[in-house]
Amino acid sequence: MAGRRNLSAILTNKKVIITGGSSGIGKAAAKLFAANGAHVFIIARRKDVLKQAADEIGSLVLSKAQKIIWVSVDVSDREQVEAWAQKYHEEYGAPDIIINGAGIVLPGYFEELPYDSFDDTMKIDYYGVLNMCHAFIPMMKTGGGHIVNISSMAGFLGVFGYTTYSAAKFAVIGFSQSLRSEMKRYSINISVLCPPDTDTPQLEEEMKVRPKETKAVAEGAGVMSADEVAQDMVIGMIKKRFMIVPSINAKFVYLVQRIMPSLVEWIMDMQIKKA
Ligand SMILES: NC(=O)c1ccc[n+]([C@@H]2O[C@H](COP(=O)([O-])OP(=O)(O)OC[C@H]3O[C@@H](n4cnc5c(N)ncnc54)[C@H](OP(=O)(O)O)[C@@H]3O)[C@@H](O)[C@H]2O)c1
Repeated sequence: MAGRRNLSAILTNKKVIITGGSSGIGKAAAKLFAANGAHVFIIARRKDVLKQAADEIGSLVLSKAQKIIWVSVDVSDREQVEAWAQKYHEEYGAPDIIINGAGIVLPGYFEELPYDSFDDTMKIDYYGVLNMCHAFIPMMKTGGGHIVNISSMAGFLGVFGYTTYSAAKFAVIGFSQSLRSEMKRYSINISVLCPPDTDTPQLEEEMKVRPKETKAVAEGAGVMSADEVAQDMVIGMIKKRFMIVPSINAKFVYLVQRIMPSLVEWIMDMQIKKA
């Protein structure tokens, strides 16, 4: 496993863009990159939250030369993303690493979910990833780099209550898998991160409305901290893994789902029945 010293040897002076870098997993990743010498650019919508996160991230830098910059961009808005990418390129050149972490989750029973919740989730969780890749890949083609797209365990397993979320997160994995093959010739590595429940503001909010059946299914994989997930993500990225599934429990579910999907369906149906 790459130790702390190895991490800073690898990450010092790297330019890292993190969408969703003002909160949860994105912020934990931003702190890890900053603490290991990288220049960090965090993207989200709310300026007050971004500013506060940037102060927190900035307190961890190894050197005053490190740039810690926050920008308010809505990743679901292609024009905003393209305009900012152009500005970024003019000022800083091409990024070395992009973490596409911006996301929302709108759980609920399919018949009760407003139609807009499907659009909103797809626009942020999937099109947000697409817009960033579309805007930044052309400038990364000469120097290569690494893009990590954050999906979820619900991106490889359709989960009760997640008709909005699983659809968007499956799309992220399908997109990333195709992109991985195409980007090899430019030395741009693509990874996809599939965390289980992670203790973040998103999870806290979601728990207020998450159906009891979804809770029962998710319980099996346990809850990780955002720092643990960020650490696993960065190590997986450095090892150039495509599929990064943090935690033993989540890895086990991923494996069984691939080998025996009907067993996983049976177990989930039992958990749902009990709930
Ligand atoms: N927490 C979990 O249990 C869990 C499990 C598996 C996967 N994930 C995935 O991990 C990623 C991070 O989740 P998290 O739990 O860390 O969430 P979080 O704490 O709610 O953070 C989400 C981040 O995304 C930003 N964001 C949301 N919509 C955006 C938009 N349209 N444009 C730009 N930024 C936007 C938010 O800032 P603003 O609202 O200010 O824009 C915030 O910085 C998400 O993709 C999520 O689906 C989370």
